[in-house]
Amino acid sequence: MEKWSIGSYRKPFLDVGYFHSNAASGTVEIGEKDSEFALSSESMALLDATLKGLMRDDSEHWPALRQKTADPQLQDIVAVLDDAGLIRESAPEHTLVKKQQLLQQALEEAWSALQGQRFADRDAARELLDCIADTSSRPFDALYASSSNVYLVYARVALQSWAVICPPAVPAAAALLERLLGEPPREVTVEFSAFWVSEVRKCLSVLTWLLVRSQQPGAHKLCTSVLAVDAEDLGLNLAIRLERWGLDFLAEQGSSQYRTSFSNDNDRRDALIAASYAQEYYITDRFIDLICPAIAQRLPRPLKKLARRYYMEEAGHELYELKTCKSLGMSEEALHTALPTPFAQLLCDFYTYFATRDVVSYFAAATITEGLPGQENLLNALSAEFSSTPLFNNRPSRKHEQLNDKLAHQYISRIMLSEVGELSVAQQRSTATAYALLLELTHRAWEELHRLHVVNRRPPLNYAMDDFL
Ligand SMILES: [Fe+2]
Ligand SMILES: [Fe+2]
Repeated sequence: MEKWSIGSYRKPFLDVGYFHSNAASGTVEIGEKDSEFALSSESMALLDATLKGLMRDDSEHWPALRQKTADPQLQDIVAVLDDAGLIRESAPEHTLVKKQQLLQQALEEAWSALQGQRFADRDAARELLDCIADTSSRPFDALYASSSNVYLVYARVALQSWAVICPPAVPAAAALLERLLGEPPREVTVEFSAFWVSEVRKCLSVLTWLLVRSQQPGAHKLCTSVLAVDAEDLGLNLAIRLERWGLDFLAEQGSSQYRTSFSNDNDRRDALIAASYAQEYYITDRFIDLICPAIAQRLPRPLKKLARRYYMEEAGHELYELKTCKSLGMSEEALHTALPTPFAQLLCDFYTYFATRDVVSYFAAATITEGLPGQENLLNALSAEFSSTPLFNNRPSRKHEQLNDKLAHQYISRIMLSEVGELSVAQQRSTATAYALLLELTHRAWEELHRLHVVNRRPPLNYAMDDFL
């Protein structure tokens, strides 16, 4: 961290309620409510005027004080007053009024996007509102079984995860859903605290997209039955059984349109490659965050040590994907101004949800993002073969892939779950369900890139909620 100084303020001012000049003794006493400091000077009038000036944020002294070029004596006095907490900030940054205005804009954007798609499924809106109102903790299997429409299941799980990691998104989502039920738009008051509207807008983008996709073909769950569980078993064995179940599930999914769109006669392949790496970046950029809720729990010491080690082994890896994105012409700023793909957001939200609520499910599903043992990284192989972008360089992503291999992360679920001992049937069923949800989500994430960038011909980065529909 940087040392705190006057330069750390945007618009500082001296905030004192007690100010008393004593011409006879040549001192000025100041403080928040009572006298805290007595300052004296041969030029009493100058001291008095300077201090009074500093009580205004437009004092001519502040620019020099912020740049450390003011008179050294004044610089020292102000530093002491700052350490004592008498210098305050007056810049109106991120005010509550501004946040509320931006929230209304984001809600309008979501509403217009849904209107543009003629979304009119009041039942779906009603069900999701009921889901928000129901704060009882439901077992995950029940949540998963609540609909055969996978996007409505995703919406329910997303709302649960936002309640933990982005609480202002929940009342914002409720306001949008109420409007879909025909209620007049209302001024929504949301407690933002440390949260910014940009993250709430990303959540609203996801919700808007989920609602629209829930009405389109292909919304039925692909997974017809999760891994069968009929007896207690060791965590390690569950990890291995899930790996095998996962490979079978993927083999059943038939040909991937994403995979087949990598060909030299597809004029959309470069956009698809760039979009794929952007999605990889969005996921790796939040990847270590997901491990933290698991680490925070009072786990057995060996498991906690492994979770901490996993965190350290992943820290900074987003830079590999960022470098590859940059070689494809996407700057860090552009990546963060754009809206992340809904699937990238859901994947990170869901993993965080499981790391918070059910560490066994989190660790069991960790290999889905790491790559199941024996699976190759298709994106790196295909992009090297088919990219025609002149400066394209996926060496950083390749390095990430090799590091992943070296760190044995394809075995992360076995490694973690070998420390949890025997698991009940109920826990295994929950975990099998969570695994099915996350594996199908990951599978769909790639196919959605095909829909968006090949079929809909969208550019790699997109900035409006409507762009994803
Ligand atoms: Fe990594
Ligand atoms: Fe990894």
